[in-house]
Amino acid sequence: MHVLTVLDHPDPNAFSAAAAQSFMEGAKAAGHSVELADLHAEGFDPRWTLADIEADDGAKVPSDVLQEQVRIARADAVCLVFPLFWWGMPSMTKGWVDRVWSWGWAYDQLDDPELSLQRPRTGVLLIPAGARSDEMAEDGYLAALETAWIKGTFGYFGFSPRKLEILYGAKGSPSRRRSLLEQAYRAGYELAAPATDRQAS
Ligand SMILES: Cc1cc2nc3c(=O)[nH]c(=O)nc-3n(C[C@H](O)[C@H](O)[C@H](O)COP(=O)(O)O)c2cc1C
Repeated sequence: MHVLTVLDHPDPNAFSAAAAQSFMEGAKAAGHSVELADLHAEGFDPRWTLADIEADDGAKVPSDVLQEQVRIARADAVCLVFPLFWWGMPSMTKGWVDRVWSWGWAYDQLDDPELSLQRPRTGVLLIPAGARSDEMAEDGYLAALETAWIKGTFGYFGFSPRKLEILYGAKGSPSRRRSLLEQAYRAGYELAAPATDRQAS
């Protein structure tokens, strides 16, 4: 498979960048080809503009959006890597999602998240988080993210199968971080093939 990893972090030495690298090493060890979209390093503009709105109505698609869509088109699996911010996406990833996965390209209706226009791709969210797993489960954050991301976002992307891999306690000790990087490596190594139909997993 060809695996696209989309990284959102301004610091190349951040834990998130290391997690993306470990994921890609795992994917390569399993025989996949890998490609990195380093959104900050590449200067992606996450601001949603009038040109984006006009493109939804049939005008020319902005060239930076088109470039991302071409990159996605050649991928069989896509992994988004970003630190959990306020129980959601940081602004760079949010803008990338808003602008790139556009009306008429990713979806053309709002009734059923399982009816994407895109072919099935394997989707992974690899998310470093400060919180512990018990905090996120007990307070309902995990369930909220699964609904918003796995169903409400990855559904419209056409991703199947889908995986939310949270790297809990990412601000923890060096040994904690080592084990999280092993988790990221395994997520890459164990990547499943895209589904042959549109069923969510
Ligand atoms: C603006 C901001 C918001 C954050 N919000 C959350 C949050 O809602 N939940 C959480 O578990 N961690 C939160 N964190 C902690 C980050 O997720 C954590 O610092 C990050 O995963 C560590 O990875 P990094 O070293 O690559 O930045 C937040 C951090 C920042 C800077």
